[in-house]
Amino acid sequence: MALFNLTMLNVSGLTALIQINMAGISLKNVVDKVKNNGLVRYRTVINAERIIVTTPEALAEVLTTKSYQFKKPDIVVTALKPIAGDGILLAEGDQHKTQRRTLLPAFAYRHIKELYGLMWEISSDAVTSLTEAVSAASKIDRQPYITDISTWASKVTLDIIFVAGMGQSVDSVRDQDAKYRTLQSIYKTVFTQQRQDLIMFILRIWVLPRWALPYVPLKRNIELGKAAKTLRDICRQLIRQKKSDLESELADKTEKDILTVSLSYGGFTEDELIEQLLTFLVAGHETTATALTWAVYVLSKNPDMQTRLRDEIRTHLRSPSSPNGTEDLATVIDNNMPYLHAVCQEVLRYFAPVPITFREAAVNTSISGTPIPAGTQIAIVPRATNHDKSLWGDDARVFNPDRYLSQAKQPHVDPLDEVAHVENSKKNAGTRSNYATLTFLHGPRSCIGQSFSKSELAILLATLVGRFEFALADESMRDETKLKLRRGATNRPINGMNVKITLIEGW
Ligand code: HEM
Repeated sequence: MALFNLTMLNVSGLTALIQINMAGISLKNVVDKVKNNGLVRYRTVINAERIIVTTPEALAEVLTTKSYQFKKPDIVVTALKPIAGDGILLAEGDQHKTQRRTLLPAFAYRHIKELYGLMWEISSDAVTSLTEAVSAASKIDRQPYITDISTWASKVTLDIIFVAGMGQSVDSVRDQDAKYRTLQSIYKTVFTQQRQDLIMFILRIWVLPRWALPYVPLKRNIELGKAAKTLRDICRQLIRQKKSDLESELADKTEKDILTVSLSYGGFTEDELIEQLLTFLVAGHETTATALTWAVYVLSKNPDMQTRLRDEIRTHLRSPSSPNGTEDLATVIDNNMPYLHAVCQEVLRYFAPVPITFREAAVNTSISGTPIPAGTQIAIVPRATNHDKSLWGDDARVFNPDRYLSQAKQPHVDPLDEVAHVENSKKNAGTRSNYATLTFLHGPRSCIGQSFSKSELAILLATLVGRFEFALADESMRDETKLKLRRGATNRPINGMNVKITLIEGW
């Protein structure tokens, strides 16, 4: 993880030299230690000025009321587009508004509820194969099975987005069809950082115009170019297959995967839909995999929480090996399992998988009354705001799921219903503002997949913790501040997350 020394200025002129790291971790200290009125200005190593937005009032302006006055920086867009698609994540202005309106119905909670069964089935399959590996290890050398849970998490979340997002049959994933295997290996390559990524980063900032970047003859650049083309070919095949399935007499018109719902609402050409699918594949699997990795990590460190969670899971849910259950999984999980819900919420708060994101003022504007000229670079830091003591109290940096249990039970609110969500979150966890949690951001550019990912995380965690006991394979990993994190849009330990897994009989 690269560390940069930065000169830090708060708006009232106090200067402090701090270390900042791009995963947003050290920025936690900035929010607490540098006195500020909502904006903290700093200079990066290349002497570029950035402003961190800290208070709920300032965040509300950048994310909600003036959202379209702040765009994604060009350098971020250029870097992400080939792999993450030219879709809703990177669109701006009216184009973004139209795409968001068209896609929103597919992500509404009423649709996501219908995906619980599918998500459960995929998680159960994955847990069943893990059970086989764990049992085999204990038979051979009577040792707990040790594996990197972050690699496992990446695979299972790709399974889920492939099936629940793209409507591919579960069988094709079980049999590891060719498209799926190619996707798996492409994302592995794309998300594994290489030295040449740094060279491309430098060329992008200082040296080359945007149009010239794809032609740089570096091995890594050529590899990414090929990956981008293959990803688009796969998405085109998926869309054509889905369209022809939907046109056939025998088609199951009730399928609720995101691609089917998006196709049924119309509004995109084939090429546009390809870009959206790429976006969902990238935005929708590494993020949840990161959350799941941290969830297993923190439960491995806290056996009491793990046992309490397992008890709740075993009381309310059938085991993954039981044949088709009849219970309404969405109702059980969302309404009857407060501790599961609290653990997931706290994981998403404490370990915000997207630790930092950037904006650039598109016009001359202001934040909290301070003039902000067009072109000003802005940093929004979920990892810092989610740990801000002025919002969360003195235990902001303690992992404590109980903070979500202390209020009277809240009804399920569709997170994409901004008005209801703000009202509900205000009461949540005793914070004074909805903007105290930035995991999915807020406003018109908030994560459209948050209902999907919250449900997915709860289901994956339930099937895993219901079945197994987890412990850290290496106790030196206990102090999370010492873990080296991967650079990139999401942050996970560079060397994976090795855990000991033991089967707990009875479920
Ligand atoms: C724990 C899991 C997830 C986290 C923490 C997360 C976080 C985020 C964040 C912070 C953003 C805003 C980025 C920015 O504007 O700078 C975002 C946007 C987005 N996310 Fe997620 N995400 C998660 C899961 C998902 C899933 C499962 C999907 C799709 C199935 C998804 C699809 C998207 C899309 C399409 C956007 C762009 C929305 C827009 O600009 O209108 N995300 N996500």
